Amino acid sequence: MRPEQAALFARLQELRKQIQYHNYRYYVLNDPVISDYEYDQLYAELIKIEQEHPEWITPDSPTQRVGGLIAEKFEKVQHPVPILSLANAFAKEEVQEWFERISKLDERVRQADFIVEPKIDGLTVVLHYQDGFFVKGATRGDGMVGEDVTANLKTIKALPLKIPVSPLSTLKVPSSLVVRGEVFITIKDFEELNRRLEAMGEKTYLNPRNTASGSLRQLDPRITAMRPLTLLTYDIVQTDEEPPQTESELLERLYDFGFPVVESRYCANLSEVFEAYEDYLSRRDELGYEADGVVIKLNDITLANQLGVVGKDPRGALAFKYPAREVSTKLLNIGVNVGRTGVLTPYAILEPVEIGGVIVKQATLHNFDFIAQKDIRIGDIVLIKRAGDVIPYVIGPIIDRRDGSEQNFIPPKQCPVCHQAVEHIEGEVAWYCVNAACPAQVVRNIEHFVSRSAMDIVGVGINLVEQFVQAGLVSDAADLYRLRKEDLLKLEGFAEKKAENVLQAIANSKHQSLTRLIIGLGIRGVGEVVAADLARRFKSLDALMSATLEQLQSIEGIGPNTAQAIVDWFQQPRNREFLEKLRACGVWPVESGETPEGRGQVFAGMNFVVTGTLQRFTREQIKAYIEQRGGKVTDSVSKKTHYVLVGENPGSKYEKARSLNIPIIDEATFLRMAEGAKE
Ligand code: IVH
Repeated sequence: MRPEQAALFARLQELRKQIQYHNYRYYVLNDPVISDYEYDQLYAELIKIEQEHPEWITPDSPTQRVGGLIAEKFEKVQHPVPILSLANAFAKEEVQEWFERISKLDERVRQADFIVEPKIDGLTVVLHYQDGFFVKGATRGDGMVGEDVTANLKTIKALPLKIPVSPLSTLKVPSSLVVRGEVFITIKDFEELNRRLEAMGEKTYLNPRNTASGSLRQLDPRITAMRPLTLLTYDIVQTDEEPPQTESELLERLYDFGFPVVESRYCANLSEVFEAYEDYLSRRDELGYEADGVVIKLNDITLANQLGVVGKDPRGALAFKYPAREVSTKLLNIGVNVGRTGVLTPYAILEPVEIGGVIVKQATLHNFDFIAQKDIRIGDIVLIKRAGDVIPYVIGPIIDRRDGSEQNFIPPKQCPVCHQAVEHIEGEVAWYCVNAACPAQVVRNIEHFVSRSAMDIVGVGINLVEQFVQAGLVSDAADLYRLRKEDLLKLEGFAEKKAENVLQAIANSKHQSLTRLIIGLGIRGVGEVVAADLARRFKSLDALMSATLEQLQSIEGIGPNTAQAIVDWFQQPRNREFLEKLRACGVWPVESGETPEGRGQVFAGMNFVVTGTLQRFTREQIKAYIEQRGGKVTDSVSKKTHYVLVGENPGSKYEKARSLNIPIIDEATFLRMAEGAKE
């Protein structure tokens, strides 16, 4: 070789080493030390040298990760030893039983220690290395014979093409090594990929596992290369060096070779195993990938091997599964709900199924477009997800389980509650029932008005609201303030005490802030943030009512659609009437201004009665404080009293206020009102 050629060759080797090292930092250690830009520069330089000297290309070059040919089908690969499965346990007792069973087979188990690892919900792969080079990779298949997916596996950057990855390693590399691991996709990458596929109008995947499997089994490795697959290893299937004695040693060896290794916990006994399980379960969402349980392994590999195998399951290990979050069940029918704004939302009526200890009979289907996009049909076996606090939702149909009897769903042309024609708003996915008197909407509107984020009328929920509407007592939220005790006593389930509590809760809500009342109006696009902005800017419903489109749009964060929705809402005669009713009932909060004048007006025209001991004020102080702000303090409670301010150990005035349904406020609420604070 000429000297300049030799220098170029040395540079090529240096580049490969560096790229390999940076892959390792990035994909295995999750701790990159150079920027993507610098990495790309190194890669481009390597490609250039290899293009000039194709004779220097070797299979372990980082450029060879993508380059396999499109296959017609996958070749079969005979595994060197059976690739076993695992028995499952779903409860502590079953783990305990397993432990007892194997302890009886071998007394040493009683003193055994364990390794616990997350059970990665991906695809098993079997990776063959010869003299340190990755030469072949296969899927598990039936455990005896798998499919050759070498070209696809090479595209996974976390997979070392040559071991040991570290040039400093003094480890003796076996001439033949077979490693087992799991190929998967992180939750973040899965969501991003689905977004990308959706934007391109392509079919999306159901879940990360399904995606990993679909991606690894692509016949064209260039497609696999575009999928964010990754890898974690957890087993040495075969080695022609001295095999490891314990699982801990095994994991350490994999790590030293430069493999990405699953995280693990050492447990000295079974009770530590249970602790590890609880701990992994509580951190389930922090892993970044789907784990469907933990794998418990006897640390002593020799002992585990001696215990043998039952069917396909080794006795020395056990999968302790987490409560399921995804299950499949039959979609019996599709129902349609009418929301507060009249929006129609479809929901799935399911064959009851247990998910994580809860029986699920219904799940959301988001909107009609979703049903069409996912091609969900009545009678389909669908995948349902329920995780944490989220409402169960349908992920999609399992197409392979169709038998041809499934029926397409046709969205209704009429509101399922009031039977008036539904309308579609240009540019929106939703269909609406535009009949404002639709009983479904009336109930939902009032339910929203009383809800915690709006007027917070404690104790009045959907059931009571439905009862009031059905009895003809209320047809909008303002009617709540006109309810009389004798009306309530006629209703089923109402006795004296309950009626009083409900009326008191309603009366108390009169002092809620303007922000809360605006939220309670239920204008499309007006949530807590926008409502607070509107209250701050307009200070009263009178001003807001006559706000122009321009004024509204000039507020930061209010776009043209919301501005239009606000104007439209206030223009509707029905809503105007509703507002006048509220005003007549004394539900007309005003936001105190930031100006001294504004502050001075805060209690203008209001009569207070104070009872009990206050924390921050003496009797004289509170009187002066209220009077300075335009209010009056009187001694006895009457119909003219606006608020009764209650401290500790209140007297009979409190009872009197209750019987007259006068709003009762505590000191904190009072101070908030005084400061005109928005909650
Ligand atoms: S050990 C004999 N460890 O779970 C050794 N398996 O339900 C058996 N899996 O087929 C495997 N994470 O694909 C083991 N940390 C882990 C695992 C794991 C996921 C998969 C593996 C296996 C399946 C058994």
